[in-house]
Amino acid sequence: MLLQRVKPLERLLAETKDSSHSLKKTLGPVSLIAMGIGAIIGTGIFVLTGVAAAKYTGPSLTVSFIIAGFVSAFAALCYSEVASRVPIAGSAYTFAYASLGEFIAWIIGWDLVLEYALGAATVSVGWSGYFYTVVRNITGLQIPQSLMHNPWDTGPMGEPMHGIMNLPAFGIICLIGVLLYRGTRESAVVNNVIVAIKVCVVLFFIAIGVGHVNTANWSPYFPYTLGGTFFGAFFVFFAYIGFDAVSTAAEESVNPKKDMPIGIIGSLAVCTVLYLIVSAILTGIVPYNHLNVPQPVAYAIDQIGMPWAGAIIALGAIAGLTTVLLVMMFGQTRVFFAMSRDGLLPAFFSKVHPKFRTPTITTIIFTLLIAIAGSLTPISILGELTNTGTLFAFVLVSIALPILRKRYPSTSGYQVPGGPMLIPVISVILSGLLFLAPIWSPLLAKALGLVIDVKYILGLPLPIFAFIVWMLVGLIVYFTYSRSHSTVGKDEAATRIASG
Ligand code: ALA
Repeated sequence: MLLQRVKPLERLLAETKDSSHSLKKTLGPVSLIAMGIGAIIGTGIFVLTGVAAAKYTGPSLTVSFIIAGFVSAFAALCYSEVASRVPIAGSAYTFAYASLGEFIAWIIGWDLVLEYALGAATVSVGWSGYFYTVVRNITGLQIPQSLMHNPWDTGPMGEPMHGIMNLPAFGIICLIGVLLYRGTRESAVVNNVIVAIKVCVVLFFIAIGVGHVNTANWSPYFPYTLGGTFFGAFFVFFAYIGFDAVSTAAEESVNPKKDMPIGIIGSLAVCTVLYLIVSAILTGIVPYNHLNVPQPVAYAIDQIGMPWAGAIIALGAIAGLTTVLLVMMFGQTRVFFAMSRDGLLPAFFSKVHPKFRTPTITTIIFTLLIAIAGSLTPISILGELTNTGTLFAFVLVSIALPILRKRYPSTSGYQVPGGPMLIPVISVILSGLLFLAPIWSPLLAKALGLVIDVKYILGLPLPIFAFIVWMLVGLIVYFTYSRSHSTVGKDEAATRIASG
């Protein structure tokens, strides 16, 4: 019963053909790969690598990246097929509405708040760390520590930072909010330039760093046991989030059936290779236990006595992180816009500005919420919650694939190898295991004789606990409001009455 209310694919496609709402088809494979890289490379590699190496993985950070990349690859295959079969602007929410029905679509849409809104908050904290490096290195200006940290932050050795709020994180989110309010979308050209800068900065780090690797720093390789390495895989998974953003451009792609898989899998492959090299070099240049700093990549270069190079890396990181913020906040506003247009959320969420044609109220509300979250919450907590939300979305999208194939056998498109079940089932298992890693990896570490630093509430790891609470709130909203206001539901009821 709950799974029966589906938004027919024909209706979704008809909505996109309505000429006043149809988008221009301009994106080819190269633009799509660039778009993916633009959304993927960000706080994960520039910031979280440091925390992960210092607290969970040590030099085995590279192994954690291999594990997280492997899990992402299976989800990427599933996203590729789904996006090439349902080439409609939107996201996992839209795919789910056409295949798994309204209830699961609601769950995904609600869950995507964790991926996009909290993801943006996480990135804003990373942005702030690099911003400070640039301000300090170029102007010599010192921003008071109390305005660079939230009240819970501690320093690399656990010392209190006496923070009040992370002001630069708050500021950048407000700035991006204003851009989105005014309808600024990155043009493909600007995006390509920034992506080029970002990749060059990463290559620059590799080129400079490789000559300064001291292999003694790679020992011991698993200081936090395999349990820590697996928890690290969950933690650095954040670095891979974003390839799914390519699927949101399916409607603007010239040849989605061919180019979607190239864009999604291509961008993921490029980033994986870069991540593996960067993580090996980073832990080779400085001892892993020195890396718990807000800007580890620039810090490592500073440590080899090249502060000018550190400043260049920080500048590139700022540009790169800004595009990730734009993609995530744009995604968040559009998912809530789509859910509201379908009647699942109050109508004001889809109210559009008369001149800018942007969802204004949604943009204002989320800008404020994200800015508050980013300026007052530790980056690790934000990142871990984003990861749970995203991995859960991966599980649901992988389940959607075989159902979509069965429900709409006439749609064609890219097909994952090995039939409709093999890859999706592997993807569900792998994403599910990584989702649950905050539960089992500390136990594994403990069995191997080590306690890793994971926070618990009521016996559950913090990200899992917060995820459950968020989803329960979502269920309450769905059953008290959305189900009875859904436009698809109302249409179905009208059809039933008309047919007697
Ligand atoms: N993968 C993106 C980042 O690392 C979200 O910032």
